[in-house]
Amino acid sequence: MVTNGKYADIINDIMNQWGYHSNPYYDHELQPDILFDLFVNREVSIEEFYKSMKLNTSMFCIEGDYGVGKSSFFRRCSLGQEQIDESNIVTNKITITKDTSENSFLLSILSAVLNALKISSGLSQESKDELGEIENVVTTQREQSTEGALSGGLIGLKQTRTKAKSEQHSPNYTSLNMLSDLSNIGRICEIDLDKKILLPIDDLESEKCDLDQVVYLVGLLRDLIFTDNYNIICIGEPGLREKLSSSGRTRSVFGESIFLKELSFNDFNKAIEKRLAYFKSKENNTSPFDPDVLKIIYKYSYGDIRWAFNTLNRMFEILIRKNYIVKTYGLSHALLVLKEIEYRAFDSLEKNEQMLLVVLSKIGPHSPSDKELQEAMNMDRVTIQKLVQKLSDDNNLLRKKKESRKFVYEVGPVIKSLENTDLLKIPS
Ligand SMILES: Nc1ncnc2c1ncn2[C@@H]1O[C@H](COP(=O)(O)OP(=O)(O)OP(=O)(O)O)[C@@H](O)[C@H]1O
Ligand SMILES: [Mg+2]
Repeated sequence: MVTNGKYADIINDIMNQWGYHSNPYYDHELQPDILFDLFVNREVSIEEFYKSMKLNTSMFCIEGDYGVGKSSFFRRCSLGQEQIDESNIVTNKITITKDTSENSFLLSILSAVLNALKISSGLSQESKDELGEIENVVTTQREQSTEGALSGGLIGLKQTRTKAKSEQHSPNYTSLNMLSDLSNIGRICEIDLDKKILLPIDDLESEKCDLDQVVYLVGLLRDLIFTDNYNIICIGEPGLREKLSSSGRTRSVFGESIFLKELSFNDFNKAIEKRLAYFKSKENNTSPFDPDVLKIIYKYSYGDIRWAFNTLNRMFEILIRKNYIVKTYGLSHALLVLKEIEYRAFDSLEKNEQMLLVVLSKIGPHSPSDKELQEAMNMDRVTIQKLVQKLSDDNNLLRKKKESRKFVYEVGPVIKSLENTDLLKIPS
């Protein structure tokens, strides 16, 4: 404990010499308390979002590539509603994992909606009583079904899985009951508060969840948007609207999507400046990296600013931990630090996995069915398919993207950032 405390003091001291109270390359989704200080641009898309809400489009998607800023964008829009004289009730985001069952999905929505309503004033006593009753049932059900998951870890997951099954047969609180309670809550919100409920369903990407299951689950909510005062925003990968509209229940219920493009280099720079200013502890703070370094990180990120911020964050951590002299570092130093943090991810892979990444970084995005890739790898389609499937579990290494009707794979930013090193030679 003492040692840890001492270590933390030393780190804080070094951080202070640089002029910051914490690592300025903040790399998480922007949370309400810091959002307006750190958020840049997106004005046009924000307008579009509010327009969709005004048009009463009750269900639409925010689509964009990995780490482009989708979750932060939604938060920015939902927090800025006063700008347009609206203040819908916004719930916490709902996510769907590969283990999410129908019941756990609906229970998590009920909880999120109840929690959001709890902090709003203006509800009648009668409504409060009704909500209280629903909350009691929901809490008991969640305790029974998600206790394990909340405790986290592998054991937790196992428990949820086994319970999720028994839960489906629970005679007490069925999906129909839950949907009817959601309807009632929507009506209470409309009558007492004259507000809609804004419900974000986030992280809808094929490597995080089963999109066919998502189509089914989102389809369950269809009736809520027509009659019961809900706005549902689905946030995920490009093509999400097309995918979600593929079932009978959800066909033609989605309004136009909002497509988020990557931030320009100028905006990325602005975002960095805002971070440096926000986290500084004194006036003469030192900018750790010069513009050439930012340019190359931006280039490697291919629009994934989540990776860009995360990489700068880890690079700065190395400067701190190794107690580098306080000054602004240029490319030559920064590339060494970058290699130091990224090479391990590559080095720990098996030889044929490395080979695939090297080949793809040379020939660009390809699909396992492309002859050129098969010849370069000297492997058949099935073997390559297995490799890409495994590697794309980590989208910093390999990413799947749609190119005119077919899926291709391209190397992720970790591999791009190693392009000038001897690591990307064909392994012998
Ligand atoms: N407009 C913005 N201005 C400044 N920083 C931003 C902006 N948008 C996103 N960021 C930052 O970029 C990173 C990625 O943002 P976010 O998590 O919102 O992206 P995402 O598209 O939801 O990512 P994922 O694909 O992982 O879900 C975060 O560190 C966030 O703080
Ligand atoms: Mg996100």
